[in-house]
Amino acid sequence: MVALTINGKSHNIDVDPTTPLLWVIREQVGLTGTKYGCGIAQCGACTVHLDGVATRSCSLPAGDAAGKKITTIEGLAQDGKLTKVQQAWIAHDVPQCGFCQCGMVMAVSALLAEKPKPTDKDIDDAITNICRCGTFQEVRAAIHTAANA
Ligand code: FES
Ligand code: FES
Repeated sequence: MVALTINGKSHNIDVDPTTPLLWVIREQVGLTGTKYGCGIAQCGACTVHLDGVATRSCSLPAGDAAGKKITTIEGLAQDGKLTKVQQAWIAHDVPQCGFCQCGMVMAVSALLAEKPKPTDKDIDDAITNICRCGTFQEVRAAIHTAANA
């Protein structure tokens, strides 16, 4: 059994604590915005926040997330109001296939919480998520828009 707090809700989940957090989020809790890409902490598709820190959930045992505040893409908007990052994503029409974008938005949201006005180098250093559609230029532009909003 693992006790997790996801998007402000408590869940007691009957699962082996070594199960990757990603599978618990998707399969036990049913929040499918968080994606599986590589499974080896390389692509960032599975990024969630753990106490506000961007974390690749495919490679984290669910038991290690117990007692921490987990936020998924579904928990980012508050009271139906999209965040500045989400609004900038829409304004720039960033997603193409969309598969990587939830993880991208989570990584960017954590970056802006830590560094509200990131430089291009800050972005390059922090946002290592992989997008097979090649949306990187739009991602960068949307980050600057969100930072200046
Ligand atoms: S699925 Fe987790 S980093 Fe790729
Ligand atoms: S939008 Fe298709 S993989 Fe990034």
